[in-house]
Amino acid sequence: MIVVTGATGNVGRALVRELVEAGQQVTAVARRIEATDVPAGVRAVTADLGDADSLSGALSGAKALFLLVAGEDPAGVLARAKAAGVARVVLLSSQGVGTRPGGAYAHAAGFEQAVAASGLEFTVLRSGGMASNAFAWAEPIRAHRTAAAPFAEVGLPFVDPDDVAAVAAAVLTGDGHDGATYVLTGPAPTTPRQRAEAIGRAIGEPVTFVEQTREQAHAQMSAFMPAPVVEGTLSILGEPTEAEQAVSPDVERVLGRPATPFAAWATRNAAAFR
Ligand SMILES: NC(=O)c1ccc[n+]([C@@H]2O[C@H](COP(=O)([O-])OP(=O)(O)OC[C@H]3O[C@@H](n4cnc5c(N)ncnc54)[C@H](OP(=O)(O)O)[C@@H]3O)[C@@H](O)[C@H]2O)c1
Repeated sequence: MIVVTGATGNVGRALVRELVEAGQQVTAVARRIEATDVPAGVRAVTADLGDADSLSGALSGAKALFLLVAGEDPAGVLARAKAAGVARVVLLSSQGVGTRPGGAYAHAAGFEQAVAASGLEFTVLRSGGMASNAFAWAEPIRAHRTAAAPFAEVGLPFVDPDDVAAVAAAVLTGDGHDGATYVLTGPAPTTPRQRAEAIGRAIGEPVTFVEQTREQAHAQMSAFMPAPVVEGTLSILGEPTEAEQAVSPDVERVLGRPATPFAAWATRNAAAFR
């Protein structure tokens, strides 16, 4: 049995589906989750990564754990996983741990260290920015066919969350990944303007792109993100390093097929923007 934390999220939902299709028994975990949120046959368990004890029921009988960076006690969570008989953990971390050590990524770095020190077989998936961040445009695109973002012409290779899930499924169920750290990106950089255009093509109507100033974006993001995360995110979006703009070969290496382009993500998710 494989425990998937964050099972109602962009990555977790796709991962649960992949594992079920591969014939695995799955326990799906989130702080708010109902049996109707998961495919038939999947056990849905309410638990909080911020409270390691709350995971005990979910972990009972598990052989592998897909872990998100959430809460403050990764060592506690991993100790309970080990005690329950879990042999393998796959951590969904962030590319920024490698490209911008410290600052906004110190928390995720702490999770990576805890996983490496856990004594379990482990693999770290360092995701770049995800295509699903464009869901922030869903409401304005539905309402008035506009999308606002800063740094209109700065390209980044956003990764499809379904590719992150597919890599996680491969690593959770296959061998040869113990101790590895994979950087997950899409197949090519796209700029915010190009992503808005791609959504327009996906819904069959043009989307007007409005370039925000850094200050406008800062104010908007501060409504739902802590200050260091806002700063970290804006510097990646506005002044990416060479490594952050580069396409990583790891999705293709693990899956044996190329990473999914942003346009394909937009087409698959067009209904959210209509
Ligand atoms: N978006 C990006 O560009 C990006 C880039 C790099 C890495 N990441 C990492 O990828 C992760 C997953 O992304 P996503 O798009 O799938 O996230 P998402 O759609 O926001 O979903 C987050 C999931 O985690 C659950 N969750 C959150 N806090 C939890 C807690 N304390 N205990 C248990 N479950 C908890 C949520 O459900 P409840 O709220 O009901 O608990 C939900 O199921 C992010 O959390 C982030 O760390 C994201």
